[in-house]
Amino acid sequence: MALVGAVKLFFCLVLWLSCILSCSQGKQNFSEFPYPFMKRASSFSSSSSSSSTSSSGGNNAYDYIIVGGGTAGCPLAATLSQNFSVLLLERGGAPFSNANVSFLGNFHIALADTSPTSASQAFVSTDGVINARARVLGGGTSINAGFYTRASSSFINKVGWDAKLVNESYPWVEKQIVHRPKLAPWQRAVRDSLLDVGVSPFNGFTYDHVYGTKIGGTIFDRFGRRHTAAELLASGNPQKLSVLVHATVQKIVFDTSGKQPKAVGVIFKDEKGEQHQALLVNRPRSEIILSSGAIGTPQMLMLSGIGPKAELQKLNISVVLDNEFVGKGMADNPMNAIFVPTKSPVQQSLIQTVGITKKGVYIEASSGFGQSSDSIHCHHGIVSAEIGQLSTIPPKQRTPEAIQAYIKGKRDLPHEAFKGGFILEKIATPFSIGELRLINTNVDDNPSVTFNYFKHPYDLERCVEGIRMAMTIVQSEHVTNYTQLGKESVEKILNVSVSANVNFIPRHPNDTTSLEQFCKDTVITIWHYHGGCHVGKVVSPEHNVLGVQRLRIVDGSTFNESPGTNPQATVMMMGRYMGVKILRDRLGRNAGI
Ligand SMILES: Cc1cc2nc3c(=O)[nH]c(=O)nc-3n(C[C@H](O)[C@H](O)[C@H](O)COP(=O)(O)OP(=O)(O)OC[C@H]3O[C@@H](n4cnc5c(N)ncnc54)[C@H](O)[C@@H]3O)c2cc1C
Ligand SMILES: *[C@@H]1O[C@H](CO)[C@@H](O)[C@H](O)[C@H]1NC(C)=O
Ligand SMILES: *[C@@H]1O[C@H](CO)[C@@H](O)[C@H](O)[C@H]1NC(C)=O
Ligand SMILES: *[C@@H]1O[C@H](CO)[C@@H](O)[C@H](O)[C@H]1NC(C)=O
Ligand SMILES: *[C@@H]1O[C@H](CO)[C@@H](O)[C@H](O)[C@H]1NC(C)=O
Ligand SMILES: *[C@@H]1O[C@H](CO)[C@@H](O)[C@H](O)[C@H]1NC(C)=O
Ligand SMILES: *[C@@H]1O[C@H](CO)[C@@H](O)[C@H](O)[C@H]1NC(C)=O
Ligand SMILES: *[C@@H]1O[C@H](CO)[C@@H](O)[C@H](O)[C@H]1NC(C)=O
Ligand SMILES: *[C@@H]1O[C@H](CO)[C@@H](O)[C@H](O)[C@H]1NC(C)=O
Repeated sequence: MALVGAVKLFFCLVLWLSCILSCSQGKQNFSEFPYPFMKRASSFSSSSSSSSTSSSGGNNAYDYIIVGGGTAGCPLAATLSQNFSVLLLERGGAPFSNANVSFLGNFHIALADTSPTSASQAFVSTDGVINARARVLGGGTSINAGFYTRASSSFINKVGWDAKLVNESYPWVEKQIVHRPKLAPWQRAVRDSLLDVGVSPFNGFTYDHVYGTKIGGTIFDRFGRRHTAAELLASGNPQKLSVLVHATVQKIVFDTSGKQPKAVGVIFKDEKGEQHQALLVNRPRSEIILSSGAIGTPQMLMLSGIGPKAELQKLNISVVLDNEFVGKGMADNPMNAIFVPTKSPVQQSLIQTVGITKKGVYIEASSGFGQSSDSIHCHHGIVSAEIGQLSTIPPKQRTPEAIQAYIKGKRDLPHEAFKGGFILEKIATPFSIGELRLINTNVDDNPSVTFNYFKHPYDLERCVEGIRMAMTIVQSEHVTNYTQLGKESVEKILNVSVSANVNFIPRHPNDTTSLEQFCKDTVITIWHYHGGCHVGKVVSPEHNVLGVQRLRIVDGSTFNESPGTNPQATVMMMGRYMGVKILRDRLGRNAGI
């Protein structure tokens, strides 16, 4: 899909410049490489002459090699470097000096940027829903909507983690990069109407996952500047940590001479296309750890020869270990949005308020402002046509051409159609699951992913419940007082929006059939996809890959369900938690942690 042109970007640039001015009061280092241990991949001095795959213990051998400098990979690398040499390999660039990444107001610009150097790599699942993967140091935390909220205690119990260490690991993250949001007016209106419709009690500002309505944390500071997992690297030990950006791992190298295959190193390409090999030191407890995300990690396992045998053989990948479960159990929480027009422009907000209902749905809100129709190209909350989040074209019809036609059509709409906010509804734990398959052996290409949205009737049932609730919220006095539009004007604008494809409010809120169709036709993603390497199927409870040695997985691919209302807090916490666990297991009391 084509990118927004220069003229349309003008408004964004003005905002961006004004943000740079106000944000420069912060005390961070905004250079591309603020840490001495961070370098471009091409700086890696490869001992390419050593053809042996057994580790040499030389310059290029590490106690831990982490594949993917994302949400989990950064805190994990920082933690392990306390006592061991760590090499962190990230395929994307640095986030620090990238304005598309750094400012709240640019949220959808990075997502709409489809160039090969973009911090976001778009993918379309076979369901037809347009989605995004991070391709930048910091991973999802560098391109996401920033909402920060912990998992429920029952989630922590279910996955069997040590609750005390969990409770120590969250604050380790929070102290460094999490902020209390300044509540936007739209978020306040939705908060109050959530309470009106019975999503109570009000739990105030809290990171905890509890029933009712609350305000969560954010990784954006009061200047709208983003703080990412990459900043957690500052807690690393600079003597033992090496971080390479533009380092795309091609595959894991195994020593297959023993009883079980043993991971010994990785092959990666630098930004010039040169190939390098990095090795583990030859000690029993050194490890490769995959933190490449729910798409990247199952893909990397399969490219390295671990996965369903027949599928690997089809692509001539030599099989290291047959495991039919790799890439299975993929899930994405469906999201549906309702657009609520307002009389006056609305301040931009991503997500600050959440309603945790007892019906298996979460209600969140987002808003954008629009002084002119041009500004839709800058701000439309977290929902925008430019990133393919069409709310009226059914998934499989969301072609690049359809998106362009939709954007064009939007320009002819009255300005009223661009002032307003969204009410978002997310299914907490989808029962519909899917799978991931390789389509080729190029790691730069997306594999084929299927999520099967609403295949399970319980998911559809919950979506209908959530939409009903959202529509009650739209009509609540807190919202109508805020939108300042009389009942008739609201109906009129909604109707205009319907015919012009801004929104599709079902005519009969009590007609289950049409609400079900609404759910299917307007399904988009909140980017919380997970799974592909489940515990018990692909990894052990300690996250060691089953059937091979020295290989572990620490990221969202191990989840059966997405933790909390939004997952990033728990994914970062998991990076810290697993790092501390590994240090304690290996060093005992001498870990000093
Ligand atoms: C647009 C968007 C909005 C979101 N909004 C929110 C929100 O508001 N709140 C919230 O809690 N969650 C949000 N999320 C979800 C959350 O950000 C993700 O679930 C989380 O970041 C996933 O973490 P991860 O460590 O599993 O993967 P990632 O953070 O994606 O990390 C994987 C890393 O591995 C790298 N990688 C992959 N393959 C290779 C390779 N071969 N070689 C080297 N490196 C590789 C990638 O470039 C990436 O940096 C959002 C996500 C997106 C995309
Ligand atoms: C910021 O980082 C750069 C690159 O490492 C370094 O040269 C510079 O001194 C740092 N500045 C501050 C203020 O720390
Ligand atoms: C930011 O996004 C714009 C628009 O998509 C793109 O042209 C530009 O190259 C991006 N900048 C960076 C640093 O990626
Ligand atoms: C961890 O924190 C949660 C919520 O803050 C609390 O409910 C729980 O009891 C704590 N668990 C331990 C073991 O401290
Ligand atoms: C696999 O190898 C065979 C034999 O060399 C070849 O005919 C086939 O095209 C290869 N398939 C792929 C997908 O590369
Ligand atoms: C809405 O506005 C009316 C008129 O100003 C006021 O009486 C009423 O209390 C407001 N309702 C709420 C829920 O704020
Ligand atoms: C919606 O608008 C169309 C055309 O503008 C009009 O014919 C129709 O009566 C309107 N419907 C409602 C419910 O207002
Ligand atoms: C819709 O359903 C609600 C709750 O089930 C009920 O109170 C209301 O009267 C119904 N409205 C119509 C128009 O049938
Ligand atoms: C590990 O690192 C910590 C923090 O630097 C230190 O206190 C501890 O002594 C180290 N342990 C060993 C065994 O080196």
